[in-house]
Amino acid sequence: MTPEEKRHPFFISCARNLENMLLAELKELGVPEASHGKAVHLGVEAELTREEVYRVVYGSLLASRVLRPLGSFECPDENTLYETAADFNWDALIRPGQTFKISASVADSALTHSHYAALKLKDAIVDSLREARGERPDVDKDNPDIRINLFLHRDQATISLYYSDGIMHKRGYRPHAVEAPLKENLAAAMLRLARWDGSEPLRDFFCGSGTILLEAAMVATHTPGGFFRNVQGFEALPDFNPETWDKVKLDLDAKIIPLKPGLIGGADIDSSSVLAARANIKATPFHGAISVGLGDFRKLDGNFEGSVIVTNPPYGVRVGGDEKEVHKLYEDFGYFLKTKCPGSRAVILFPDPSYEKDIWFKPTRGMFLDNGALDVRANVYEVKSVQRTADSKD
Ligand SMILES: C[S@@+](CC[C@H](N)C(=O)[O-])C[C@H]1O[C@@H](n2cnc3c(N)ncnc32)[C@H](O)[C@@H]1O
Repeated sequence: MTPEEKRHPFFISCARNLENMLLAELKELGVPEASHGKAVHLGVEAELTREEVYRVVYGSLLASRVLRPLGSFECPDENTLYETAADFNWDALIRPGQTFKISASVADSALTHSHYAALKLKDAIVDSLREARGERPDVDKDNPDIRINLFLHRDQATISLYYSDGIMHKRGYRPHAVEAPLKENLAAAMLRLARWDGSEPLRDFFCGSGTILLEAAMVATHTPGGFFRNVQGFEALPDFNPETWDKVKLDLDAKIIPLKPGLIGGADIDSSSVLAARANIKATPFHGAISVGLGDFRKLDGNFEGSVIVTNPPYGVRVGGDEKEVHKLYEDFGYFLKTKCPGSRAVILFPDPSYEKDIWFKPTRGMFLDNGALDVRANVYEVKSVQRTADSKD
């Protein structure tokens, strides 16, 4: 077996409840059944070849991180963490001159502070390398070459190597942010929940900085999630194979198709959001094909019959404002869907179940998701078509 054929265990993490969606996406990206892909809590475990891991890091719209576990051990205290981690062969992972960064998360363990646990692991790596080669590596908090993850759960530590460049929702297409932007992979999950495949018109009437519109454009054009990133992450690892990466990139980029003008459109009441969305779109190849209007959805002209609407309306906690007004906005949006969008399918993100009843009609499906620190719910609505009689006019 050549090194290219060899499979290694990976953990591909995702936000809560997206595990099965991620498993489906990995299959679409060419990860075969033989990889033993299994949805587990907050991710998928799979045994991947080098080519497959590059496909996942470059192609996925849903994954948060791609990690290769280096080792797991009982870790009841800081000394065990330090001693065990210092025995790992860091010399083979971090080359002279390379920088690194640790991220850590800790739950239900004797070591309660993730920052402190990360510091202990950093000391173990630095000391181990100083002993091995007489020089200490530098930490770079912003753009490290090598990223290492410590996951400590119920006193069981897992140390992993990142194959992604940190958290993958940062696509690199949104330099112009607004307040309360949606995470890109959450927008991608909402589009999957809508079962949108790029064949029906897609609208977002609360588009903010345009995250849902841009994710939709990526779906419709088969643009890989890593297309706008300068760095994928795996390029600095000791096992990096540039030929395999070139092959993956060429293969996935060859599948990209142009965006049909008018297929995707959005609007927002706030002019700075509209400007941000337009500027974000302008910096991508989707420029000219996505329209973003300025206006209150209640006053929009036109009929949006038979569209797919994926949207993230405003809410009190993040946007500020009067609760009553926000409830009224959801009620008006329900009316808007019924009157202006018959025969449509809508996915609405609710920050709080109390807004769901304002929409009037019942969802057909739904799921709980995490938007940053907020627990949110995405519901799917099938908006009834208008009944036409023989003498009815359009
Ligand atoms: C939660 S934010 C959407 C964020 C967006 N998904 C993003 O990623 O940037 C809600 C948006 O609704 C807009 N909004 C509030 N009231 C509106 C109205 N009546 N009509 C249209 N847009 C409205 C706000 O300006 C805000 O940009």
